[in-house]
Amino acid sequence: MYNTTASLRTAFLEFFASKQHQIVASSSLVPGNDPTLLFTNAGMVPFKDVFLGAEQRPYTRATSAQRCVRAGGKHNDLENVGYTARHHTFFEMLGNFSFGDYFKQDAIQYAWEFLTNVLGLPKEKLLVTVYETDDEAFDIWNKVIGVPAEKIIRIGDKSSDKKFESDNFWSMGDTGPCGPCSEIFYDHGEHIWGGPPGSPEEDGDRFIEIWNIVFMQFNRSANGNMDKLPKPSVDTGMGIERIAAILQGVHSNYEIDIFQTLIKATADLLNVTDLENKSLRVIADHIRSCSFMIVDGVMPSNEGRGYVLRRIIRRAVRHGHQLGGKGLFFNKLVATLVSLMGEAYPELAQKQAVVEKMLKIEEEQFAKTLERGLAMLESQLADLSSTEIPGSVVFSLYDTYGFPADLTADIAREKNLTIDEAGFEAHMLEQRKKSQAASSFKADYNDQLTTTHQSEFTGYLNDASTAAVLQLFSNGESVAELTDGEQGIVILDSTPFYAESGGQSGDKGEIEVAGGTFVVADTQS
Ligand code: SER
Repeated sequence: MYNTTASLRTAFLEFFASKQHQIVASSSLVPGNDPTLLFTNAGMVPFKDVFLGAEQRPYTRATSAQRCVRAGGKHNDLENVGYTARHHTFFEMLGNFSFGDYFKQDAIQYAWEFLTNVLGLPKEKLLVTVYETDDEAFDIWNKVIGVPAEKIIRIGDKSSDKKFESDNFWSMGDTGPCGPCSEIFYDHGEHIWGGPPGSPEEDGDRFIEIWNIVFMQFNRSANGNMDKLPKPSVDTGMGIERIAAILQGVHSNYEIDIFQTLIKATADLLNVTDLENKSLRVIADHIRSCSFMIVDGVMPSNEGRGYVLRRIIRRAVRHGHQLGGKGLFFNKLVATLVSLMGEAYPELAQKQAVVEKMLKIEEEQFAKTLERGLAMLESQLADLSSTEIPGSVVFSLYDTYGFPADLTADIAREKNLTIDEAGFEAHMLEQRKKSQAASSFKADYNDQLTTTHQSEFTGYLNDASTAAVLQLFSNGESVAELTDGEQGIVILDSTPFYAESGGQSGDKGEIEVAGGTFVVADTQS
């Protein structure tokens, strides 16, 4: 039973629906109204305002399978991808939520019932943690559920500054809802190295955290204050890939159905026979995050979310190259991904063509410099007298060959080397100063305008399209119209014009209106 990830997803949602939870579709990876977050990194993110009491919904219980990215910001797993059995840039989080409805006891009972009754996991394979002072959660596990006391581990705060970094106190970010949590671990068996949570060997892969139940009680504000939430609430999260691994009788997430299919498809494209190769796992991971980011409107660029996307694409392309791939391959994996996940995420299937096209453009662009950059790095490494790649080399690779610093760090790690991050940052700062000094009117001009509008980019599929004017500017002021011969700035609801980004200049062209034609001299984001 539940030997596919898809059947597991459905079983989870149906279980919680039977407990009066509203099934809520996954939100975008780009958080709607949260400037503090780069990407949706947990199932609770779309419900943040509900926890805070700032948004009302017609239900007090919800359940979802939420797409998540942890590749930047507070929760960042990018570096670990390919090196552990269980880290991903993209994953799906199964969750159930109570907004001031049930609290600790029901949350724990539901989790236990789902794992042991519905999925049939052996109880003796499970152990749990509670926050060190949470006697209430300890007693529920021990007295109500019947977990022996020696299998309930109290975990305290990690740091001396007990406020900010801890193990069994979950926070969304530096600010936002947070609270003590209780985690459920699965023991994959003695043959795998690792110790129980809280032990010196806890980073091993034997005991894997599968479910985190957060007792949401506080809102942390920027000054560090912890204000009580209007009502105690529950936020739980279970990485679907980890639980799928258990149900499919494998140890590594990369051995589950979705990843095996992606790994085989990659191996076929690149003519690789060793399916255990780490680079295959990295590529299989990266195609998921990159595709879904594009589905959610992120475009490769040199800053913010767009740069995270570009960095991950370039990492994937480099790993393909590492496997001997000379041609384009990454965009060709989208079809396989759609066959695996398009039913659960119809938006992925709908945007397949856009995703493929955008990945292809990025692959082509990076392919031009990758090989020369690698050759330059090799020659520098031949003369290297330490185990650290100098900041100047990391910077040249970035500046001339488009190697993000973390990509160079990834290569370095494979060779047991590190990079001089501080030296690289110093070069970056220097470059920023120079380019600011040389900046033209464009940058200032952009700074002076404020708008709340956003344009949807349609240019990956069309060179021309019909759009509505959302706002006009003339001489830095918002105006109602532009007259014949007047220069100005227009913001459209959608546009095929590519805005200057990542070394590519903004598109030029024409806008036809009822009374004539405006010339588009430049496009800026
Ligand atoms: N928000 C918690 C986590 O991400 C539980 O979903 O672990």
